Amino acid sequence: MCGIVGILGRGPVAGEILEALKRLEYRGYDSAGLATIEDGRLARRRASGKLRALEALVAKEPIGGSVGIGHTRWATHGRPTENNAHPHVSAKLAVVHNGIIENFRELRDELKGKGHVFSTDTDTEVIAHLVTEAMNAGKDPVDAVASSLPRLKGAFAFAMIFEGREDLLIGASQGAPLAVGFGEGDRAGEMFLGSDALALAPFTETIAYLEDGDFVVLTHETASFRDVSGRPVERRKIKTLASAYLIDKGNHRHFMAKEIHEQPEVVGRTLAYYLDMSSGRAALPFDLPVDASKLSRLTICGCGTAYFAGLTAKYWFERFARLPVDVAIASEFRYGDTPLEAGGLTLLVSQSGETADTLASLRSAKARGQKVMSVVNVASSTMARESDVIAPTLAGPEIGVASTKAFTCQLAVLACLALALGRARNAIDAETEARLVAELMAVPGLMATALKCESAVEGLARELGRVRDVLYLGRGTAYPLALEGALKMKEISYIHAEGYAAGELKHGPIALIDSEMPVIVIAPRDKVLEKTISNMQEVAARGGRLILIGDAALASELAEEAETAIVMEDMASDFAVMAYAVPIQLIAYHTAVAMGKDADQPRNLAKSVTVE
Ligand code: AGP
Repeated sequence: MCGIVGILGRGPVAGEILEALKRLEYRGYDSAGLATIEDGRLARRRASGKLRALEALVAKEPIGGSVGIGHTRWATHGRPTENNAHPHVSAKLAVVHNGIIENFRELRDELKGKGHVFSTDTDTEVIAHLVTEAMNAGKDPVDAVASSLPRLKGAFAFAMIFEGREDLLIGASQGAPLAVGFGEGDRAGEMFLGSDALALAPFTETIAYLEDGDFVVLTHETASFRDVSGRPVERRKIKTLASAYLIDKGNHRHFMAKEIHEQPEVVGRTLAYYLDMSSGRAALPFDLPVDASKLSRLTICGCGTAYFAGLTAKYWFERFARLPVDVAIASEFRYGDTPLEAGGLTLLVSQSGETADTLASLRSAKARGQKVMSVVNVASSTMARESDVIAPTLAGPEIGVASTKAFTCQLAVLACLALALGRARNAIDAETEARLVAELMAVPGLMATALKCESAVEGLARELGRVRDVLYLGRGTAYPLALEGALKMKEISYIHAEGYAAGELKHGPIALIDSEMPVIVIAPRDKVLEKTISNMQEVAARGGRLILIGDAALASELAEEAETAIVMEDMASDFAVMAYAVPIQLIAYHTAVAMGKDADQPRNLAKSVTVE
């Protein structure tokens, strides 16, 4: 949940640590800090709040040293104060940590009993004192870390530097990702640690991931990996393309806006990867890990927006592949008792590929005899590495905490999978497949047109910025989009919002309708549109503030009932939901901006939720 970085350099490293932390801020931004060995002594700067507070501090109170570690925090234990900010130190070392030390209370009590004085509320501080205790007993730093690691329970990664040692950086990983970067060319002899390849992109393209239970000892000359039992091991170096991605906002005010606008391009890119446009067929670039014709069920699992992508895809798998689908919230699935057929297929959907509950679900599905396929955006993520097959989304790095382009790229991949399975199961003929492929190929263009509703949305958003609650309604694939719309609104504007299946309205939520409550209805021209229109009439009849998202013909039909209409292009497409996602995202974005909220970094959240 936090981001960590370490640099063993040849010159001052503080500036580069700050640069790497900017790329990790998506993992948390409650507080930040860095520590170096300056003239042989530990030096540290920390600040609560976003990274810019630490930058300002370092500008005012510069810090030297050619080896250092940095951290950007999403608080799990202890409030996000400066005192609880990482790095945490003892007399001998400094440590930055991501994840949770489950047994920190018992270790803290034990170490207190031995005279260690704790000054923070964090679980991290026990790592510092545990390793220090081993060093006090005469061990060198490497042996001290080796003997301490087996005592730490939980899923975590950490990086550590030592007083008096300008030539040493140690990292460890147990269930949380950590990458080693190897300096090359004019950076030869420099070593790096980071929570992901993106953090290391400005420094090197050659990295190696630690495996579960590993720790690594970095000097200017070598990177020595040890496995969980302390045995020296080799870890494969890979080339990463992370540096190819430009991490800037372009002409946009926020990453979220940029990412919304990138969708026609990245969804097009993703579709092109899975479709053979000339033959009009879905052409998966990998073999399925199961015989699709023999599948009797499919399980799809994810969290938040990724879960809603799964809920949407259920309609497609059931319609085009005639395959029953269970969609599960990962935090429920991982502890659930749903019987799963051995040899069946579970699909995990995740932008980051690191979400703790989804990763645990992957492992649980595997343990229950399933083949696992992950639809992930970060191809080097833990989920990708542990899956039987990866179906990548090609959205590029998503920096805004609110998932936008990753969502629509997930939908693109899942739609292509549904068609491929449909063909493999003889559920669709070649003609239907060609029609559906043509509909998919039209989606990027429809999304580009949908972006033109932005100025209408801005006007609406100024109104929405004044309300307390919003309802979202939809039927069919527009129902999960209603849930997604409500999540987006809550997440970045902090306005209370709920999504409902439009037909459910009369079973309770209709009691909420009054002249204050905006009801946003997502109404693409599909086979259930007439039913959705009836639900809109029910809202209008009770004096509700109806906000319609639909085509021009529908807008004119409901001109009297609807307070506002966001007019979409006329589209008879089974995949219209991907284009309708655009105004839904823009509504949340512009409402947050109108209210003066930070759309990229909403309070209490982090981009990658690596704790359960
Ligand atoms: C979406 O806007 C959210 N920030 C959140 O629901 C997110 O989709 C969820 O945490 C899952 O993340 P993942 O896709 O990286 O697994």
